[in-house]
Amino acid sequence: MPTVIAAGLTTTEAPFIEQARHDGRLFIEQPYELYSEENHEAWRRLYARMGERWQRYANPWFLKGVQSLCLDPQRIPRLEDVNRFLSPLTGFQAKPVSGYVPSFVFFDCLRNRCFPTTVTIRRSDRLDYLPEPDIFHDIAGHVPMHTDRQFADTLVRFGECAHTAADLVSGIRDREMRLHALASIIRAMARFFWFTVEFGLMRGRDGLKAYGSGLLSSYGELAHAIESPEVQRFPIQIDWAINQSFEIDHYQPLLFIVHSFDHLFSLVDQLERWMKDGRLSNVAPGEPQVSESDLQSFLGR
Ligand SMILES: [Fe+2]
Repeated sequence: MPTVIAAGLTTTEAPFIEQARHDGRLFIEQPYELYSEENHEAWRRLYARMGERWQRYANPWFLKGVQSLCLDPQRIPRLEDVNRFLSPLTGFQAKPVSGYVPSFVFFDCLRNRCFPTTVTIRRSDRLDYLPEPDIFHDIAGHVPMHTDRQFADTLVRFGECAHTAADLVSGIRDREMRLHALASIIRAMARFFWFTVEFGLMRGRDGLKAYGSGLLSSYGELAHAIESPEVQRFPIQIDWAINQSFEIDHYQPLLFIVHSFDHLFSLVDQLERWMKDGRLSNVAPGEPQVSESDLQSFLGR
């Protein structure tokens, strides 16, 4: 009997996604016709309330990116429409996935100017809290940044570092030492990514603005990150960021500031130099945990 796939692409409740995962399909099509009216309603409400916050707290390249992508405030975007506007600008493309992408595959996608993109969306009655990424986070939080050439080049550079890491550890003969170094490097890269691409702040001419996508896709946390006295904000130091654990289930208590995308690009260069010097091979234990599939993605590339 053929499998009947019900409508709806709600995060953690989408049979289409369950089936894709069950079949081992990571890269998928965006099954646009499966979005329910409730799904579109969630997008509409998320988008409507972000507008004013973006104007106040987002960096100018993000605002320009939102304009360039011509996102529809009323309906969940089709990725092919997003890509039609995005690709000519930086060569980046949003590529639909069914769920978690192992680290090496994710970074390698960035290197190839592809951004693995979640197609599900959070429930319309739970707009605020969501530990998983969804299409609002990925398309309205990340992709506008990919319209900026300098930022896009930084992501590509970051993707190249994953290859450097894989080459580096392949030269370590002792298996235990190889796995230890690799887990540490992956943790360091994930932390760097978290404190920049996901939760980065930038100090510019108009004061402090967000460029991190976790902030730009969160109505509550975006204002909190910039305004709250409870948040510690420091100029970024790589040695600190790569040794700093983070938790994903609450507002971030510690954020790092860059002063330009030039600065961010140079930090990725520095990260790679440190990796080659062995300085990422023994970072502090803690979050994020590196999974077996993350390790295997590097070892078996
Ligand atoms: Fe993200």
